[in-house]
Amino acid sequence: MVAFFILSLLLSSCGDIFIEKDLLQRPQAKRCSDCHSEIFREWEKSRHAVAWKSEKFKVESENYTKNKCLSCHAPHQVEPEIKPALRVEFKEDGVSCVACHFKEETKAMHGPHKVWSPPHPSKQDLNYTKSFFCAGCHQETYKEWHLTKVQKSCQDCHMPSMGDKRLVQKFPFEYFHSKKARHDHSFPTGKAKPEDLLIELERGEGLRLKITNVGIPHNLPTADQGDPKLYIIVDAKLPSGESSRVVRVLSYQAKNALLYRIPTHIDLPWQGVEKLEVSLQRKLSWKEEREEILRVTLK
Ligand code: HEC
Ligand code: HEC
Ligand code: HEC
Ligand code: HEC
Ligand code: HEC
Repeated sequence: MVAFFILSLLLSSCGDIFIEKDLLQRPQAKRCSDCHSEIFREWEKSRHAVAWKSEKFKVESENYTKNKCLSCHAPHQVEPEIKPALRVEFKEDGVSCVACHFKEETKAMHGPHKVWSPPHPSKQDLNYTKSFFCAGCHQETYKEWHLTKVQKSCQDCHMPSMGDKRLVQKFPFEYFHSKKARHDHSFPTGKAKPEDLLIELERGEGLRLKITNVGIPHNLPTADQGDPKLYIIVDAKLPSGESSRVVRVLSYQAKNALLYRIPTHIDLPWQGVEKLEVSLQRKLSWKEEREEILRVTLK
């Protein structure tokens, strides 16, 4: 214990000699895993880590020749106000650790905490906890979110809290640093819950389905360049005994996504139908298969 205390005093008084200079020269993400191995393993699973390598991106950017496409998928330095510039080195790392954390102006790693980090300078910056941090790339989604005036941030849902944990897993640093608030760097997309969507049947002149997104503070689906889809599939048994189906496909491209708290109406062509079966399915832009969000029977 005493030895640790003396050692830590020593470390803090001559911190500079512990700086590992290559960390300030924009290394590969793999280098950060020498100490931040847990965060690295989460990030590795994220869509950010494959933003450049994604087969679909490769095809749609015409084998990386469409210049206007490249910079958000391999950014140099993330800024909320502007589309980032294209990175020169290690493009295969996609949206990488240094792109989000290293700032040329201060030659330090910026992040949400006040830390003492001998291997590299760090600077606390509370903008990391705000949705605006994501706005330079998720431009459309950010605008949608901003209009909803919901307090929950992108990070609250897509970098959920993991409680207090150590930021480093390397001897001896792990013993000198207290546990701190950690956030999931796998950037989970998540999935709408049944209660996020309100589905009602209106019987007036004709039959009308009313669907409201009450839980997700951006369009459903939302996109900047991807093409995720939401399928609304309505099945009915007609009085004649025949089965009939209506399908609507919602997307950003078709400009018919579900807006936050503004209902979408779908007129149904049937008469004398007693009950309907409604299934909502989503298809993420990077997945082939659909997944069901909910299924309800309406009377
Ligand atoms: C040799 C070990 C080591 C390496 C390699 C390393 N770091 Fe760190 N880093 C630390 C230590 C120690 C801390 C402080 C941890 C604490 O206080 O809990 C830290 C803290 C941080 C923080 C938190 C800053 C804050 O304010 O919240 C960020 C961000 C960070 N590092 C990014 C990186 C990135 C990006 C890389 C790769 C380029 C990297 N680090 C490589 C040791 C390292
Ligand atoms: C440098 C640009 C950039 C920044 C900054 C950025 N992202 Fe992303 N993000 C992307 C790209 C590009 C993709 C798509 C990667 C792919 O699937 O090929 C993506 C994908 C995602 C996905 C997965 C979406 C899906 O279709 O499943 C989530 C969730 C996400 N980002 C959340 C965030 C959050 C939260 C922030 C802010 C903390 C953020 N992003 C900041 C560029 C960025
Ligand atoms: C302003 C930043 C930005 C630019 C510029 C950009 N993208 Fe993206 N791209 C994103 C973000 C953010 C996502 C995450 C999903 C979404 O919101 O659409 C994404 C997702 C994607 C996806 C779906 C994920 C995947 O890997 O399948 C493809 C494909 C894609 N982009 C292709 C392109 C192409 C082609 C261009 C040029 C026409 C381009 N992007 C330009 C930010 C950008
Ligand atoms: C798309 C941008 C983005 C990428 C890529 C990214 N981070 Fe972060 N990181 C953030 C944001 C935003 C926070 C703050 C989250 C919060 O406080 O809500 C954060 C927080 C942190 C923290 C503080 C502890 C925590 O979990 O909140 C460390 C340390 C860190 N990141 C290191 C890394 C390392 C190492 C990598 C690469 C393996 C990496 N980050 C990749 C955006 C990013
Ligand atoms: C209250 C939680 C919440 C907040 C806040 C939130 N999202 Fe989402 N987001 C979700 C859920 C849940 C999904 C999955 C929807 C589904 O089932 O497909 C999603 C989906 C996405 C997708 C994938 C495309 C899609 O429609 O499935 C992207 C990209 C995204 N969010 C980005 C963001 C960004 C950027 C912000 C901040 C501006 C943000 N989100 C704020 C919950 C949230």
